[in-house]
Formats: sequence, C-alpha cells, structure tokens
Amino acid sequence: LGKNIKHFDTVTSTQTVAHEEAQNNAINGTVIVADEQTKGRGRITRNWQSTSGKGVWLSMILRPEIPPQEAPKLTLLTAIVLADVLRNYVHVEPQIKWPNDILINGKKTAGILTEMQAEQDRIWYVIVGFGLNVNHTIEELPENINYKATSLRVETDTEWKLNDLIQEILVTFEKTYDYYLEHGFADIKEKWESYGFKMGKEISIKTMKSHWKAPFLGITNDGALITKDMDGNRTTLYSAEIDWF
Ligand code: BTN
Repeated sequence: LGKNIKHFDTVTSTQTVAHEEAQNNAINGTVIVADEQTKGRGRITRNWQSTSGKGVWLSMILRPEIPPQEAPKLTLLTAIVLADVLRNYVHVEPQIKWPNDILINGKKTAGILTEMQAEQDRIWYVIVGFGLNVNHTIEELPENINYKATSLRVETDTEWKLNDLIQEILVTFEKTYDYYLEHGFADIKEKWESYGFKMGKEISIKTMKSHWKAPFLGITNDGALITKDMDGNRTTLYSAEIDWF
C-alpha cells in the first residue's frame, strides 16, 4: 500500500479520480490524495468541504479477494485505523459513531466513504475514501446542520503536518488490513466496538414507521447496528435515523 501514491493540488473529488484510475487498471493499494477538492463527496449525497491544506482528503483503490457482501468490513476497518492513529499518534480519545464517523469529544473530525464496483460474486475494486479535518481553526470549520465538526488543531492546539499523518495512516492501514486478510474479522469488530460511541447505552431510533428507545448492543460482521425492537427483541438495523445526542 502506498507504493503508488498520486498527489494532486486540486481535484473535483479523489473518489472520482480513484474510480478513473481503477478502471485504467491501477494496482491494488494505489492512493489518490489531494490538497483541495472542489466537489468533495460525503455519504448520502452530502458534500464534504475540503479546503486546501486543511485536512487529509484521500482515496485508496483496493482489490481484495473477498465476496462483495464483505466489502462493508473495509469501512469498519478504516474507521479503527483512523481511530488508532488519532489515539496513538495524535494522543486524543477518539470514538466511532455508527456507521463511520470519527468523533473527538463528541464532534466529527473524520468521515469515510466506501464505493465498490462488483459483479455478483466478485469485487472488481473498492474505493475507500476518507476526509480528516486537521488544521482548521474554529472559525474555519464547516457549518453543518447534521452534526458538530472539529479538527485536530482545535482539539490539540497544535498544527499537524499532513504528510506525517498520511504516512501514519497508510502504515497502520496496511498492518490492520493484512491482519484482517490473514486472521479474519473478529478482533477488528471487537476493536470497533471498544471505540463505539454510545456502545451499551440507550439510543433513540426512528424508522419510516416508528420511533423508540433501545440499547446500542454492538455491530454485526457486515456493519449493521445491533439493538432491540419496540418489543424488546434483538434486531439489526442497516439504515435508520439515530438521534445520537
Ligand atoms: C462522510 O462523512 O459523509 C464521508 C466523507 C468522505 C470524504 C472523503 S474526502 C476524500 C474522499 N473524496 C471524496 O469526495 N469524499 C471522500
């Protein structure tokens, strides 16, 4: 991983560039990183503010030999990689908010976007992209109605070198990814849960039909949230509105 790093000053989105590269046969582990994105994408068609030099805007091309339904594990794995680097290198106490936001002190500092091209039983490639807010001052942070944002600078009072962070993240990613391919997902999932925001606590769930409170019990191998339904029976949710705060 990271043997083929392509660095750009400005792109629309590193995800878009990564898709193009992957379709042109870029090797497994190719990394696309940009100082600035003019059309950074977030999950569920949200946009992602990616100002020049303020954060790490990066997409990785992976060609894992796993069935397509296991691809969500790569998102969970990336979340713990980012959390590990924030804990061990930046020395903050990160948490992962389901499905894949990284929080410090309850505020979002990173988000992950995974996209895949696959046939029925075979992955062509997966693009795992993440944005990490690093050197924004409070005034420079994106305004967002969905969540409160933060940056490493706001949380640590320090400006961080983006290249050093990228290096730490790629080295940690490679180790964690290799471990997963060799030993499977159980330890990774346990680690995710140890970082899980509101794990074991009560959360407020809203589906199309109803609204109830239940404990957050953990995640499944494919990244679904384990909780209880309105009758108190164990249930899993793939998408639902959770009132986290
Ligand atoms: C989210 O929290 O909604 C996910 C945000 C993902 C942002 C990153 S920045 C690098 C890559 N390129 C994009 O356009 N999006 C991802």
